[in-house]
Amino acid sequence: MNILLTGGLGYIGSHTAVELLDAGFDVVVVDNLSNSDIKVKDKIEKITNKKIKFYEYDLRDLEKLKLVFNENKIDAVIHFAGLKAVGESVEKPLEYYENNLFSTINLIKVMKEYGVKNLVFSSSATVYGRAKSMPIYEDFPTSATNPYGRTKLFIEEILKDFELANPEFNIALLRYFNPVGAHKSGLLGEDPKGIPNNLMPYIARVSVGKLKELSIFGNDYNTKDGTGVRDYIHVVDLAQGHLAALRKLEQNPGLVIYNLGTGVGYSVLDMVNAYNKCCGGKVKYKFAPRRPGDIDVCYASPEKAYKELGWKATHSLEDMCESTYNFQKNNQ
Ligand code: NAD
Ligand code: UD1
Repeated sequence: MNILLTGGLGYIGSHTAVELLDAGFDVVVVDNLSNSDIKVKDKIEKITNKKIKFYEYDLRDLEKLKLVFNENKIDAVIHFAGLKAVGESVEKPLEYYENNLFSTINLIKVMKEYGVKNLVFSSSATVYGRAKSMPIYEDFPTSATNPYGRTKLFIEEILKDFELANPEFNIALLRYFNPVGAHKSGLLGEDPKGIPNNLMPYIARVSVGKLKELSIFGNDYNTKDGTGVRDYIHVVDLAQGHLAALRKLEQNPGLVIYNLGTGVGYSVLDMVNAYNKCCGGKVKYKFAPRRPGDIDVCYASPEKAYKELGWKATHSLEDMCESTYNFQKNNQ
């Protein structure tokens, strides 16, 4: 089977490409390299000893996208491509709406034209906004607190309308919790441009001396140690969740929604302490004020994905920290 990955050279897409190739799928990637590097293609090929077909196209370019479908018989699409920085989305909302929404609309138009009916979409736990209770189930109400989150919410709604009008389509909305970690080879991982906004990449840079110390945003939350709690999931577990979703779509389920998380919440201090065990205590930190818009606790119920996809996360917190440190040391 030939799977098209949009944004396939990015952090989650590249790990998914490896899992797909290892499982015997063929992979075609479309990525405009706005937040990734062409070297990732070689790394995927080195890890798997297989080739991928790559197009440096922007999904907003409809004619180019059609070329990809003309040249390849695509069986299913996993749609990772998108801009994802919350803070930047507040400053540049139109860029986010234009990139994320137009890309998706082009993609489903072309899929319909070429009769490609199975689509997996990268959504996010951000669509739950401030959930009233934990864990979060898929039928909880959705809302958004920033333009990035709204693009995810709008795309979910667009895909629901599209599937209603085109019931032959099968669409999986995968709501990721907090992806962290790296490939065990040390070749693939998360390497954001500039100063990282998210916790794990920031910790990783401190651990190799590229940043001085971590600021922990808030120690007065209503949690066991006062710091924010999240559901961190190893990116390889997440990648495998996409294979499970593709298998599900072959049963013609229509539109389905799954949380991809572990169901376990760790605090910022849990993360720092676990990471310090791997790297010999190199992560210094200080407490700083809360980050505006942050919530105290967020973790998934991963039960539905387990029951219906037979998927669950297996990597430990130690795996998440060790692989991150290994990747960071390898990519100085
Ligand atoms: P990433 O930035 O590493 O990967 C996204 C890729 O899409 C990049 O390689 C980028 O160059 C490409 N891209 C962006 N716009 C494009 C366009 N118009 N045309 C072609 N390529 C384009 O991000 P990631 O962490 O791998 O995330 C993948 C998806 O998962 C995104 O949609 C993101 O919003 C979603 N998601 C990520 C997280 C997370 O914490 N990493 C959490 C929840 C959801
Ligand atoms: C972020 C995104 C969210 C996305 C989610 C999925 C933001 C504001 N939100 O959520 O839209 O769905 O990733 O991956 O980017 N922290 C620190 N110091 C830091 C960085 C973070 O203490 O330098 C804390 C935060 O306050 C939070 C935790 O670490 O408690 C995790 O933060 P982060 O990695 O940014 O993820 P989220 O805020 O959960």
